[in-house]
Amino acid sequence: MKVRMRVNGNQVEREIPPDRLLIDFIREDLGLMGTKEGCSEGECGACTVLMNGKAVVSCLIPAFRADGAEILTVEGVADEAKLHPIQQAFLEAGAVQCGYCTSGMVLSAKALLDENPEPTVEEVKKGISGNLCRCTGYTKIIRAVQMAAEKIRKERG
Ligand code: FES
Ligand code: FES
Repeated sequence: MKVRMRVNGNQVEREIPPDRLLIDFIREDLGLMGTKEGCSEGECGACTVLMNGKAVVSCLIPAFRADGAEILTVEGVADEAKLHPIQQAFLEAGAVQCGYCTSGMVLSAKALLDENPEPTVEEVKKGISGNLCRCTGYTKIIRAVQMAAEKIRKERG
């Protein structure tokens, strides 16, 4: 079957088997390796991407369900010249250690901040509750999301 979608702003079209998962489509068919595979069961959030602006776990979604959708992976988060404020804040807050969870975290944070530019700590915790990190203990990640919110608000004036 044929699927068409926009991925990171680019229109893509591929012939795929019906059981192709979105994560495999992204990583293998499109070669975008920033989306990580952890548990493959919808539990860890490492494979999170945005589909029409909502954070989804790409390991559970058949690629055909994304037909016609707008997909954002970590490769499309930064603009060409500089990191996205969320990525910058993760670096500044020391919220990246092994980095395996980071692309999923950044995309969940983006979905949250796009909807709620001034989240409380509780709202940040809820926003990233589907993303597991084995390294940081979450405090720095939560701080990073709040720093990012501040940066984005400042950028917008
Ligand atoms: S790899 Fe998809 S949720 Fe863990
Ligand atoms: S930085 Fe290692 S899993 Fe989060």
